[in-house]
Amino acid sequence: MPKMVFIETDGTRREVDAPLGLSILEVARRHDIDLEGACEGSLACSTCHVVVAPEWYDLLPDAQEDEEDMLDLAAGVARTSRLACQITLTGEMDGFTVRIPGESRDMQRG
Ligand code: FES
Repeated sequence: MPKMVFIETDGTRREVDAPLGLSILEVARRHDIDLEGACEGSLACSTCHVVVAPEWYDLLPDAQEDEEDMLDLAAGVARTSRLACQITLTGEMDGFTVRIPGESRDMQRG
């Protein structure tokens, strides 16, 4: 079974099983990783924002315009930011690593 790695907002590194064909958001949900995904993958939010490890980023197909538009609204965007619901795991992605940005939550504090 391929694996992927989530780096959680507190820096915890979690390596989890990552079946081919699932989106990163679906993998996160299977393993109770704290990634919201409010619109269930319909590109109507940016709560599934993740920052892809630079060494993995070039492997991904380019983001579509709709994804870019949503990322513009996300907090804590980095050069390698993507939306987790738009990335599907392929055979080359064993070990794929993303970080979950914590900024959006911080901004909501009162
Ligand atoms: S879950 Fe809303 S854009 Fe990914």
